[in-house]
Amino acid sequence: MLEQFIVQGGRALKGTVAISGAKNAALKIACAALLTDEWLVLDNAPLLSDMLLICQILDELGVEISWNGNQLSLRAHKLRSYRARYDLVRKMRGSFVLLGPMLARFGRAEISLPGGCNLGVRPVDIHLNGLRAMGANIELEDGYVIATGKLHGAEIFPHCPTVTGTENLVMAATLATGRTVIHNAAKEPEIVDLCNCLNSMGAKITGQGTDVITIDGVDRLHGATHRIIPDRLETVTYAIANIMTHGHIYLTNTEAWCFDALTACFPQVKIHNTDFGFLAEGPVTQGVDLTTAPHPGMPTDLQAQMMVLATQIPGRSFITETIWENRMMHVPELCRMGADISVEHNDGANRATINGGLPLYGAPVMATDLRASVSLVLAGLCAKGQTTVSRIYHLDRGYHALDDKLNMCGADIVRSKQEAA
Ligand code: EPU
Repeated sequence: MLEQFIVQGGRALKGTVAISGAKNAALKIACAALLTDEWLVLDNAPLLSDMLLICQILDELGVEISWNGNQLSLRAHKLRSYRARYDLVRKMRGSFVLLGPMLARFGRAEISLPGGCNLGVRPVDIHLNGLRAMGANIELEDGYVIATGKLHGAEIFPHCPTVTGTENLVMAATLATGRTVIHNAAKEPEIVDLCNCLNSMGAKITGQGTDVITIDGVDRLHGATHRIIPDRLETVTYAIANIMTHGHIYLTNTEAWCFDALTACFPQVKIHNTDFGFLAEGPVTQGVDLTTAPHPGMPTDLQAQMMVLATQIPGRSFITETIWENRMMHVPELCRMGADISVEHNDGANRATINGGLPLYGAPVMATDLRASVSLVLAGLCAKGQTTVSRIYHLDRGYHALDDKLNMCGADIVRSKQEAA
């Protein structure tokens, strides 16, 4: 049965929140276990439903998996299947990164094409063309990508930077013969974390975090122990919760760089590094004009949360989404809570105009994707009255125990079964 959050707004928030390991690093690094027959041990692994799902897929393939608190150990000694099923892959498109490492080590991978999702079309042409350039034979059969062959190095020129595309190709290249150069690479910190983990497994990767990543293939990779970086998206989400509620939430298990996107977008925000943890403080009094872009630009994964913050800034703000064509589903929900936001569609981008400074009022709202869901909780925290956020399974994919973490700081969030629609 689906679950919902019932949020009573207007509570003063005070306390400490421990930030989890980065979802978008941990998911891919778990897949890197396919590249070796030795144990890969990941510390600071987040206990999220998406992590449990990738572990389920890896388990079905034959990977040994064990959890001990936040330590995840994986060993792909040998596989019993090369097929990642549609039923599982469709639930999390990020699992498409299994393709590169499985193909590189075993010479065969069968992964369901992920299909579109509520963010938009989500093509994988760059993943497939890059692997083809490395010598893979790729066929589509019954909705599955069947990739076979022995990989060699190649120069790859993606038409746009892609996070999972870059990760798939980097992992494939670690065991290919010769040198692979990925131009126009994505530069997200989570990709750097993956490359650092691969290097500690014996890979030869340079240039991670820049536009050009160079990988010199090696014969084999070995096991390693790696600590997942803190989740910068979770960090900024709690920082925004604190600013919007004028609270005192100290953030631990995170690092100063995790706030970079927040301070770049809202220069009035101050980050204090105290003995209790990091404290993000406003007030934010000046409207903003923000546009999402690949790293180091404004992250699309913070667009919804920043929009909620903008609803509380007097005057007008603008937010343009350029990465995903359908990522403003939170707007009508926020408007139901009293926000004044309008959206224009222009050349594939959505531009929201936010007339800020209006009070928010509690309402029943529906979560449509991970980041939209959390933005509705943020709105509920500073709204007058009660907000019911339904379909919170989206939220559990990327925020570990959000209700517990906020309730420990004085919030009033109750998780309950949702009435059937
Ligand atoms: N694109 C192509 N062809 C491809 C791949 C991507 O045209 O072969 C385009 C996409 O259509 C999109 C752009 O490139 O317009 C960027 O997409 P990207 O491939 O970078 O996205 P992704 O790798 O599928 C990851 C994150 C998303 C995050 C995006 C953008 C993971 C598991 N997912 O997705 O995270 O929004 O990068 O930063 O790492 C989230 O955590 O809430 C989330 C959706």
